[in-house]
Amino acid sequence: MRVLAIESSCDESAAAVLDAEAGLLSHELYSQAELHRAYGGVVPELASRDHVRRLLPLVKAALARSATPPEALSGIAYTAGPGLIGALLTGASLAASLAYAWRIPATGVHHLEGHLLAPLLESDPPPFPHVALLVSGGHTMLIEVAAIGDYRLLGETRDDAAGEAFDKTAKLLGLPYPGGPQLAEIARRGTPGAYHFPRPMLDRAGLEFSFSGLKTAVLHAVRAAPLTEQRRADIARAVEEAIAGTLTAKALRALDYTGLSALVVSGGVGANRTLREQLTAAARARGARVYYPRIEFCTDNAAMIAVAGLARLRAGQHAGLAIEARAQWPLASLPPLAA
Ligand code: KG4
Ligand code: ZN
Repeated sequence: MRVLAIESSCDESAAAVLDAEAGLLSHELYSQAELHRAYGGVVPELASRDHVRRLLPLVKAALARSATPPEALSGIAYTAGPGLIGALLTGASLAASLAYAWRIPATGVHHLEGHLLAPLLESDPPPFPHVALLVSGGHTMLIEVAAIGDYRLLGETRDDAAGEAFDKTAKLLGLPYPGGPQLAEIARRGTPGAYHFPRPMLDRAGLEFSFSGLKTAVLHAVRAAPLTEQRRADIARAVEEAIAGTLTAKALRALDYTGLSALVVSGGVGANRTLREQLTAAARARGARVYYPRIEFCTDNAAMIAVAGLARLRAGQHAGLAIEARAQWPLASLPPLAA
């Protein structure tokens, strides 16, 4: 089987070709970050319009680079949600149109299932069952992954997602959108211990997160004195440590709770170096192992949608000619995969 995958749930347009035997043959990506920067965040209507411009050339490039004629495709996978509804519709309608023209099935993939399965693209994939820490701009979740398609939510954020916390505090520090990676960059020059921000929910039992209080604490710190370069770096460092520290502690708690010893970290915040270092060290200390997708597959991409789509198409799950797009879509509502 060989699938073409299309991702357009937010501000990344992407296409990829995955072969069941030969593996990932191509992946193309265009980030709209530049387009949205002036507005300090993603503008949904601009995102949709740009996907319309970008997707078809990306699809053509992915097919050309993998030397895949349409006849060689067994199906098309596209992100059907959750995400920005207009953005999702551009990818869904393109996928459904191509599937109709080429007389192959199209399947709507859950974006978070894509993130969860991204580490399967690596040469040393995680074993099942495992615990997954899914940390992106929109989600912060701990999930017990028994098998592909078998997900149990252990805990999630009550308010802001970890990526959102990075982006919002970065904005308070005057960093341009998307602030997470830039905050991480300046944090490297910060003095350890110069600031200490609360690690919410750590003192409480359970696997829930809360990051909204961090913004207020950072706002007070920013306003307390003129924001020199060094103070900015010091605050960034403390923000990163508060977020990474909280995620690490709760992820380890989830391993204890489930008795599992494999941890998968995926989603954009999984690209954060401090988080990776802390998690790897903490897991090693208790005899567990952490599995990551490569950095470029932590953030949104079509390769991960191809992995999830291939599994779903193999199980015969597709929507005929329907164009599926859901802004909200609970992961737990996904149908299981037949063994
Ligand atoms: O998974 P993703 O690309 O998109 C969503 O599905 O949300 O995640 C994007 C999020 C943004 O909030 C971005 O700031 C954050 O991931 N991010 C990072 C880093 N790289 C991306 N946050 C902290 N450190 C990074 N290196
Ligand atoms: Zn994502």
